[in-house]
Amino acid sequence: MIKNIWPLLSILFFLACTNESEKTVIPKEETNIDYAIDNHSYSNINEINTTHLHLDIKVNFDKKEIIGVARHTMNNKGTKKAIFDIKSMIIDKITLGTEGNEVETTYTIGKSDSIVGKALVVDISENDQYINIYYRTLPEAEAIGWMEPHLTEDGLYPFLYTQGEAILTRTWIPIQDVPSNRITYSADVEVPVELLALMSAENPTEKNDTGKYSFKMEQAIPSYLISLAVGELEFIALDDICGVYAEPGLIEKAAKELSSIPQMVKAAENLYGEYLWGRYDVLFLPYSFPFGGMENPRLTFATPTIIAGDGSLVTLIAHELAHSWSGNLVTMANWDDFWLNEGFTVYFENRIMEETEGKEVADLLMLINYQELKWTVERMYEAGIEEETKLKIDLTGKDPDEGMSDIAYIKGAFFLMALENEVGRERWDEFLKTYFKEHAFQSITTEDFVAYLNKNLLEKVNSDFNINEWIYEAGLPETLLEIDSKRFKAAEKLAHDFKEGNQLPKELKRSDKVTYEWIAFIRAFEGKLDIEKMKTIDKQLNFSKSGNSEIMAEWFVLGIKNDYEEVRPDIEAFLSIVGRRKFLEPIYEALRDYSPESKKWGLEVYEKVRNNYHPISYNTIDYMLY
Ligand code: BES
Ligand code: ZN
Repeated sequence: MIKNIWPLLSILFFLACTNESEKTVIPKEETNIDYAIDNHSYSNINEINTTHLHLDIKVNFDKKEIIGVARHTMNNKGTKKAIFDIKSMIIDKITLGTEGNEVETTYTIGKSDSIVGKALVVDISENDQYINIYYRTLPEAEAIGWMEPHLTEDGLYPFLYTQGEAILTRTWIPIQDVPSNRITYSADVEVPVELLALMSAENPTEKNDTGKYSFKMEQAIPSYLISLAVGELEFIALDDICGVYAEPGLIEKAAKELSSIPQMVKAAENLYGEYLWGRYDVLFLPYSFPFGGMENPRLTFATPTIIAGDGSLVTLIAHELAHSWSGNLVTMANWDDFWLNEGFTVYFENRIMEETEGKEVADLLMLINYQELKWTVERMYEAGIEEETKLKIDLTGKDPDEGMSDIAYIKGAFFLMALENEVGRERWDEFLKTYFKEHAFQSITTEDFVAYLNKNLLEKVNSDFNINEWIYEAGLPETLLEIDSKRFKAAEKLAHDFKEGNQLPKELKRSDKVTYEWIAFIRAFEGKLDIEKMKTIDKQLNFSKSGNSEIMAEWFVLGIKNDYEEVRPDIEAFLSIVGRRKFLEPIYEALRDYSPESKKWGLEVYEKVRNNYHPISYNTIDYMLY
């Protein structure tokens, strides 16, 4: 037995912290960290904060490295230390002063935390305003997806994209990584000459022959919205302010699929005020992108799994576009306020869909959302984690990604629908329009919103609507609206009748119903359907090879739960291309839980295709399966 483990621990600690690049290493406890600002950042933005960032970087695909300098222009309120967040990166040196007039300075790096990374504490004087951090990323930097050529549409060139949200920007830029600090940025980026670089900024529309591109983002944004993509990309304009970027093999289809985007932008502007970001473009990433979409300003990043051939999955673009107001213009100040970003956006997305597709389709969408919310709340109660069904959550000590649940998104949206119902649409829309205008380019907390809501809306109409129950209590309040949809019910009835032995109507085609009706149809089987009946459906409606990723993902799960083995090649093909976590999770979960044999098959497939996924996805699936 080891009686005293401290000497051993301190040796281990020393070994863990020794790294050629880190001059002095001090434990986190000894760095002066102000947790009062944000639970997920070390930065001391109350004493000194970045106002402008200039990146001068080079992308090296062979080494899987971004190397260069992050030049911070800062507002120093008289402090002698500037604290930044870093993770998975090497600091080469730090200088003070404007470019060319730089003097090297000293710094310390704190102990590493597996979620928030490390504090980078830079020694400065009270007057210093310019801090230049020379750095290199490591291949494991979580924000960066380094895609080999075979993982792209055309298969010829590698592709890189970053994903900053939630707290991953610190893995590719040394930065004060807090949503409550807003910065403008510019960048000089050098990439291989065959490739085009794009950022969440003013963008080029075609390649040049130097491989050097310059960017400018003149509106102040939170750090999680800084993003970069590099690939063989082409551009097609949709109108004066909207366009699509994608690989050559996808660009025509992509532009066709998104032809309704200009109309969506107009609908959004009519609802909640002018679009303030100049352009709105969409970039299609490789299939490995772990999310559906990411609202990087001026340039939404999107998964190609929304290209269904008939424009039926553009709801996702309505969502990312809506973030141009909720999230990008008015940003949550803390990750605990995440619902302020996503709940507002799901609500706003639905209003855009109502404008462009009509109320019936918008209601279908919300009902699908409602089913998911109900299941999530039930699951959380069963697991004894009903705390997590509160809109405002406490993510202290947790990865902010854990806040990415149906609660923030859907309970958040239903809260706003209940408010709309309380005061009437006209008043509510007027209120929201003013809310966005008065908080534009600001980061706010839930409490700021509540105060504003009380003062500018509820008190004016003498309402005693219970906002506290919605925000601070668990579960679903009674004021949650019920949505009544004939089309939803008809889709469910079709399923019930068929399950009970009726034929499918002979003339029924897949194009007779929209995606969300088919999802209602599949869900109505509640996980149980004869194989023979599944085959009949596939023969007539061709779900398994439909090319509609939302329908396929639902259908495959039902197939797994009913031993529909003929569909396995289609499932395998899907899993080997698509890296979108929302689809991977339920499919692998069904394979894991249905039978020992399905679990074995699922693991075999996973081992073959795991390398095709982004770290964000394979980390989640590893955790589920191993
Ligand atoms: N901002 C989110 C994506 C996100 C949230 C990334 C938290 C990392 C942490 C984006 O707007 C989003 O919500 N995407 C959804 C699509 C949407 C239609 C619900 C997605 O990717 O599935
Ligand atoms: Zn969102």
